Amino acid sequence: MGLPGVNVVERDLLCRLDPGSIMRAAGLEPDPWQDRILRSRAHRAIAKVHRQGGKSTTYAAAALHRALYPKNPRGALVLIFAAAQRQSMEVHRKIVELLAALRPSVGVDKSSESRLVFDNGSRIVALPATETTILGYSAPELVIIDEAARVPDILYASVRPMLAVSDGDLWLCSTPFGQRGFFHHEWTKGGDAWLRVEQAAPQCRRITAEFLAEERSRYPEWWYRQEYDPVEFADTEGQAISYELVMRAMGGVEALQLVQPPAPTATLLGGVEALSL
Ligand SMILES: Nc1ncnc2c1ncn2[C@@H]1O[C@H](COP(=O)(O)OP(=O)(O)OP(=O)(O)O)[C@@H](O)[C@H]1O
Ligand SMILES: [Mg+2]
Repeated sequence: MGLPGVNVVERDLLCRLDPGSIMRAAGLEPDPWQDRILRSRAHRAIAKVHRQGGKSTTYAAAALHRALYPKNPRGALVLIFAAAQRQSMEVHRKIVELLAALRPSVGVDKSSESRLVFDNGSRIVALPATETTILGYSAPELVIIDEAARVPDILYASVRPMLAVSDGDLWLCSTPFGQRGFFHHEWTKGGDAWLRVEQAAPQCRRITAEFLAEERSRYPEWWYRQEYDPVEFADTEGQAISYELVMRAMGGVEALQLVQPPAPTATLLGGVEALSL
C-alpha cells in the first residue's frame, strides 16, 4: 500500500491536508488532473475526462475526505448520484476500498447497501438519479454527480435547492454525452463559479497509444473524439433519436455506426434551458 514509512498519525494528517493522499494510501498516485481537483477544495467543480480516466476514483476520494474531515463538527452528509443505482454503487464501492486501505482496522460491511455511517456523524449515501431519492435528505456538505452527462436535468434541478440551505459543495464529473443537459450547460455556459478540469486519453499514463488506435479504428470518429480525445461534446443531428440509438448500441459496433455524424443541434425537452436553471 502507499505512503510507506508514515505512521498512522502522520497519515491522518497528510490525508486531512491533501485529499490526494487518500488515493496514495491505497497505492494510487493521483494523475495531474486528479491532484488539481482534489487539492482545490472547490465549491463548484467539473471534471470533463475521457473514459476510464479515474473520474469515479477521484470523486470517491473527495467524498471520503469530506466524510472524514467534515466542516460541520457534527459530521457531513455526502450525497452521490449517478444515472443508475449500479453506477452510484460503483463509487460507493471505491469509497469502501479507499477506506479499507486507509483504516484497515475499521470494519466496513461491504455488503451493506448504499450508505456509510462514520463515528464522527458523517454519512455517505449513494443514490440513483431519480427525484424521489433525494426526499428525506437535507443540508448536504457535498453533492457528487458521477457521469453527470447521463443524469436527467430534473435531478439537477431538484438537487440545487438543497445546496442553497447548506451552502454545500457541488462536484460533477463525466465523459461528455452530446451537446445537451446540465453537464454540457455548466461546462460551456456555467460561468466563473466553476473550477473546470479536463483530460484527454493520450495524457493518461494507464492507456496505451495502441489501445487508442484500436478504438479509433472501430468506432465513428465523432464517438472517439467524445470518449477519448479531445473529449468534446458531440454535435449529433436529431439528438433524442441519435442518443437512443447510441444507448442501444453500447454493445454493438454495427448499430453505433447507424448514428449520424455531427450536425446542428436541437434543444431537448426537459433540457437545462427548458427548466430555466
Ligand atoms: N491515479 C491512479 N493511479 C492508478 N490507477 C488509477 C488511478 N486513477 C484511477 N485508476 C484506476 O483506473 C481505473 C479506472 O478508474 P475509474 O473507474 O475511477 O475511471 P472512470 O473515469 O470513472 O471510468 P468510466 O469512464 O468507466 O466511468 C480503475 O481501475 C482505477 O482503480
Ligand atoms: Mg466512472
